[in-house]
Amino acid sequence: MKKIILDCDPGMDDSMAIVMAAKSPDLDLLAVTTVNGNYPVDITSLNARKMLELLGRSDIPVAQGMARPMVRPSPSDPFTHGKDGQAENFLPEPKLPLSPLHAVDLIISLIRQHPGEITMLCTGPMSNLAMALVKEPSIKEQLAGVIAISGAFGLNRYAFTNATGDTPQSEWNVYVDPDAAKIVYESGIPLVALGLDVATHFDVNFSEADIAEFAASERPEAKFLYNAIQFVTARGFEAYCTIIDCMAVAYAIDPTLVKTMEVRVGVETQSPLTLGMTVMDIRHHHTWQQLPLITIGAEADHARFLALLKQLVLA
Ligand code: BDR
Ligand code: CA
Repeated sequence: MKKIILDCDPGMDDSMAIVMAAKSPDLDLLAVTTVNGNYPVDITSLNARKMLELLGRSDIPVAQGMARPMVRPSPSDPFTHGKDGQAENFLPEPKLPLSPLHAVDLIISLIRQHPGEITMLCTGPMSNLAMALVKEPSIKEQLAGVIAISGAFGLNRYAFTNATGDTPQSEWNVYVDPDAAKIVYESGIPLVALGLDVATHFDVNFSEADIAEFAASERPEAKFLYNAIQFVTARGFEAYCTIIDCMAVAYAIDPTLVKTMEVRVGVETQSPLTLGMTVMDIRHHHTWQQLPLITIGAEADHARFLALLKQLVLA
């Protein structure tokens, strides 16, 4: 079993990422850590606890993390996850208490307890991991890797036509805290950034039959997903919006789901027009060698991804 920490900002799709991570027999979910992003961190923490309780996994600790980006003020999201941040599923108040530790400290402590074994899954802004690296730089040698929903690389039209940030070509998680993303991208930790090129592709969509199966299931997480699909489609969005973050969990379970490539990438932290943009340098000549070499998602097997997700949701 692969040991993981899921660092997230639920958010309807982060909530579904929690479902996959908590139910997969291939993953050992050590903790869920929460961050400001889709909603303020007190709401994302509450939603993470609600989701674990829904799944009967109150044994997994939830630690609350950074309330704001490292440097900049927090922007507001042009997309809505509903009044409760969970597509208006309005789950019951959880009994599961928050961990007494700050997420940054829990991340440092778990990495030290399991050197070389933990993969961090980041499905929100990277403020917690970046702060952990600032506080305790030695953890970078002890982390097995990071798999993140992060960036938009322009490999296909979905990367930019479905851009989630509030500048024309940015992805929300990088856009919210570009300084944190820059720290993680430049850290030297093996990073797989699954960007909008693979995670918001229109092929990531359910058939009518899938949706009917979620509606008919007795599993509360299937009902949650069904309601979320109704919520986004009623607002003119595609159903893929409900499961963007699930791609990171799926990749942790089965890396053959996504073809990747190694490229040099810089994160824009200054320009008002391109803030949060992840700029690839794939030139044959004059490449900026100072940019970090990271792995990015180039193409995903969306049919197999959806099959895995469906199997875990209905299990
Ligand atoms: C990211 O933006 C958020 O709204 C989603 O939760 C996902 O992590 C995609 O850009
Ligand atoms: Ca998210």
